Amino acid sequence: MNAVQSLAIPSTNGAGRDRIQLKIWLAERIQSSMSNTGKLTRSPEIVQIAYERFKQACQYAKINLPPEKEDVFFNEVLDEIVGLGPLEQLMRDEFVSDIMVNGPKMIFVEKRGKIEEVSAEFADDAHVLRVINKIVEPLGRQVNATSPTVDARLPDGSRVNAVIPPCAIDGPTIAIRKFAKERLEIKDLINYGSLNQVMADYLQACVVSKLNIVVSGGTGSGKTTLLNVLSSFIPEKDRIITIEDAAELSLNQRHVVRLETKTPSHEGDSVVTIRNLLINSLRMRPDRIVVGECRGGEALDMLQAMNTGHDGSMTTIHANSPRDSLSRLETLVLMAGMDLPIQTVRKQIASAINLVVQLSRMRDGTRKIIQVTEIAGTEGDTIVMQDLFKFVDQGEKNGKVLGEFEPGGLRSQYTDRLKIYGFNLSPKTFMKTMPSTNGDTRRR
Ligand SMILES: Nc1ncnc2c1ncn2[C@@H]1O[C@H](COP(=O)(O)OP(=O)(O)OP(=O)(O)O)[C@@H](O)[C@H]1O
Ligand SMILES: [Mg+2]
Repeated sequence: MNAVQSLAIPSTNGAGRDRIQLKIWLAERIQSSMSNTGKLTRSPEIVQIAYERFKQACQYAKINLPPEKEDVFFNEVLDEIVGLGPLEQLMRDEFVSDIMVNGPKMIFVEKRGKIEEVSAEFADDAHVLRVINKIVEPLGRQVNATSPTVDARLPDGSRVNAVIPPCAIDGPTIAIRKFAKERLEIKDLINYGSLNQVMADYLQACVVSKLNIVVSGGTGSGKTTLLNVLSSFIPEKDRIITIEDAAELSLNQRHVVRLETKTPSHEGDSVVTIRNLLINSLRMRPDRIVVGECRGGEALDMLQAMNTGHDGSMTTIHANSPRDSLSRLETLVLMAGMDLPIQTVRKQIASAINLVVQLSRMRDGTRKIIQVTEIAGTEGDTIVMQDLFKFVDQGEKNGKVLGEFEPGGLRSQYTDRLKIYGFNLSPKTFMKTMPSTNGDTRRR
């Protein structure tokens, strides 16, 4: 009898054996009996062998299930063996975009834009830890008490962050941003009501005309998705360099170089930051630099690059309004360690950034561009901004946010530049419409 065969079969409680414990017992028993089978994947051969071992183990443990229940149970056991255990069914659910594990007994998901708690659960902390290790080990990474946080990526591109005790107080936590199989395109965003056609045309013109753009928004507001959509407007002939922590952007153009930061796998390993990659990218003859997110000293280098001929660069920033995004940039630049006077930093920001596109995750779970704001220079120490478009929230009906996208009424100051690139935008683009007495709408 090998070590696992000798593992005690979970004992019975009043309501029968604990289903999760039994599942883990079966998974461990089957897994150890398959240690010579090679990599455990969901291939038909592995599934077949696992099924045979499952039947044997059930017989041994006197587990009698009706066929339909046996099937469900076997699939759960299989998820433990070849997948991420209780998370596997959530990974398969195409409507789930985020999975959040707050310790073993609490799992939340974002499904169709709404956050909800699900009934799936882990047995205990050790079970969650096993799944975390399953994710990070193939990447040569470790998570332990001395290094209790980890960023990783699943083979399908999904982004994972895990924190374990002592830093996670209530047990190991996992946050997964699932990789969207279908990349959203501009027409999808218009269909979802995230922006309208006029705004889309304007943004496309701005990207082609090489304006420097910051996409701003809260967590999960759709920044990376919009950055991807905006990047898709970059002309095919331009050489694009993308720089990210965990590569999420996927561009269709051919002339793209994708760079990703490197975190240390072992003690003493080197770190390569966004800032390192950004500085390096300037020597790679880029036409366009797209930085996944600015959240550190790279902000300074990004501004300097934008101010020294690397037009048409784009990035995202965590902020709740265009004005906040500039304050955040200011803070990040100051954090970069150069002792620059605040006035200088503001002037740099004002001359580097042309446009801020503000996103918001609305209370009904939809994502909207709530402001498209131009930077119009500085007045004294203040950066002057003007809203070109904004979303006017008009309340709710049947749980859906109502409202309209409205132009701000001011003509874009980049109209002439856009014209040089072939975009003759009508002044009407930026004019407000208002209902007339006969029910038509007219521009004012
Ligand atoms: N306009 C949109 N309409 C509907 N769903 C969207 C939209 N934009 C993004 N999403 C979905 O919202 C989720 C979060 O999107 P995304 O990763 O782009 O957000 P983010 O702001 O970059 O998040 P983070 O702050 O974690 O980096 C994804 O599942 C994505 O498919
Ligand atoms: Mg993002």
